[in-house]
Amino acid sequence: MRRKLAAGNWKMNGLRADLAEIEAISAAMGLSPDPAARAEVLLCPPSTLLMNAADIAQGRIAIGGQNCHRLPFGPHTGDISGPMLIDAGASHVILGHSERRMDHRETDAKVREKALYAHSIGLVTVICLGETAEDHDLGQTVRIVGRHLQHSLPEDATAANTVVAYEPIWAIGSGKTPTPAQIAEVHGFMRTQLIERFGAEGEGMRLLYGGSVKPGNAAEIFAVPEVDGALVGGASLTARDFLPIVEALE
Ligand code: G3H
Repeated sequence: MRRKLAAGNWKMNGLRADLAEIEAISAAMGLSPDPAARAEVLLCPPSTLLMNAADIAQGRIAIGGQNCHRLPFGPHTGDISGPMLIDAGASHVILGHSERRMDHRETDAKVREKALYAHSIGLVTVICLGETAEDHDLGQTVRIVGRHLQHSLPEDATAANTVVAYEPIWAIGSGKTPTPAQIAEVHGFMRTQLIERFGAEGEGMRLLYGGSVKPGNAAEIFAVPEVDGALVGGASLTARDFLPIVEALE
């Protein structure tokens, strides 16, 4: 049985004043009499807020980084390493988000390398993949997703250390979402591929959908087979929007 996961990616948003939202989300999660029965919640704020966020969360929600280097330290100006994330209180890291693939030319090979290192120090990776609008229109979705899956996921991926997030690039921040049937097709395909490659571990890996998930469409998306949760961008910035999404998972 895969535990549902609601993950929020704040991207390059969030100042200290916004820690109040993390406080509200984390407080709501702490109210549950049986936290293990609830969906797991993960918030990935910008690096500047990680330490504060982890202090506020007190383990009621997980805290993650949005990227990390493939090396533990060294002359890499502007980068952040896995040990630094852990030191700040993070347990997870998002890797291969399409914005990093585009803005920082991250390839599948780089994502795989980063994931290998992140796993070696105990971080759980949320590995993102998805097709462009052009690929979608050309009917190439499954081929592109299959390629990302094969080359971005490292060979040591397990149900415990890896979460996969399918994010069609054209759905991110656009208000557009694939139909439930389209999501079902991609998630079903990913599950088959993961089982073929990783056996029971592939069966246990959580598959998130990401791209314009909102309180109003979350329940419909979560009803799709093989959707184990969501990676939420804009709607994770406030407790008002994010908590109903978490509730829709339960
Ligand atoms: O990481 C999150 C995704 O890119 C989705 O962003 O919910 O703002 O569309 P969005």
